Amino acid sequence: EDTERDKLIEAHELTAKLYHYLLMNTTHGQQALSYLRGRGVTDKQIEQFNIGYAPPEWDTLTRFLEKREFDLSKMEKGGLLTARNEGNGYYDKFRDRIMFPIWNRDGKVIAFAGRLLGEGVPKYLNTPETKLFTKGRVLYNFHGARVAMRKSRNVVLFEGYMDVIKSWSAGVHNGIASMGTALTDEQIALLQRNADDAIICYDGDNAGMAAAMKTIPLLEKAGMRVQVAMLPQGMDPDEYIEKFGAQSFMREIIEHPASATKFRLIYAKKNHILLEEEGRKNYLLEAAGIIAALDSPIEREIYLKDLSREFDISLDVLKQDVFAHREKSY
Ligand code: UTP
Ligand code: MN
Ligand code: MN
Ligand code: MN
Ligand code: MN
Repeated sequence: EDTERDKLIEAHELTAKLYHYLLMNTTHGQQALSYLRGRGVTDKQIEQFNIGYAPPEWDTLTRFLEKREFDLSKMEKGGLLTARNEGNGYYDKFRDRIMFPIWNRDGKVIAFAGRLLGEGVPKYLNTPETKLFTKGRVLYNFHGARVAMRKSRNVVLFEGYMDVIKSWSAGVHNGIASMGTALTDEQIALLQRNADDAIICYDGDNAGMAAAMKTIPLLEKAGMRVQVAMLPQGMDPDEYIEKFGAQSFMREIIEHPASATKFRLIYAKKNHILLEEEGRKNYLLEAAGIIAALDSPIEREIYLKDLSREFDISLDVLKQDVFAHREKSY
């Protein structure tokens, strides 16, 4: 049983080396390499994240594993190969994709994400659930981020692989990604053991903001302090770094996160038309509810003062509303 796991890990480690070699040293790999460089991924990051390339042929990896006497049916169950429909035999699961190895907590390769070199679906093909890989138990780059995370007691949460990689070269060495899905209890527990503070830095679109709204209470419930580093509308961290540079990303985005409350207010505001009286009123009522949930009277006062100034409503009236909210919840 244990040796079967070890064997599958060994296969993944060898496969990562093969894909990396093919990226760096073959004609086909050249295309993938220029794609990565075109997106601003440096050679240093290609090495560090052991990025690779799965060639377009159907049997490159299959023959490689066969030659090394791996049990191909186990390699299929392990997510590296696909079984042929007719007859028997196998072919490579990943073809003509940029390959991102995914590591477990010990830094062993246990899965891959393969990205198309251009547009198309699926953009990323991921290893399915296997003996080694359960998506909800793994965080991309946890192993790499661990040292910086534990030292600073702070973690930065991204949505995607590219965000982690590009922001690493910008100076964020405690960044991890949840790989496009909501964080599970197990992932939260893992973060909570290694950090006290979290900065959520998801994509600056509706999906990213909605995901942040879901993630905030999960982290808060685990006792973490949460802030949100917001990006301009429609941009993700990787795009921001490409457009405005590493220094701007650090100074303007990562070092200036909004508090969770401020983010909740911004998110609520998006749903109301503030030019209309009805919209303003509804936003204020919702905002009062958000602020009422804060336990600290000082914090409540700070946010209420902002609201009072912004909407030219007396602080007293706002306080009455917040008081009513708090009464209700007891
Ligand atoms: P995004 O669509 O934001 O992709 O999905 P991205 O990270 O910005 O990728 P690039 O920059 O276009 O290369 C965020 C994350 O969701 C998961 C991946 O983990 C991705 O990084 N995802 C997305 C998938 O697993 N499959 C997909 O087809 C798309
Ligand atoms: Mn190398
Ligand atoms: Mn996205
Ligand atoms: Mn993105
Ligand atoms: Mn992106």
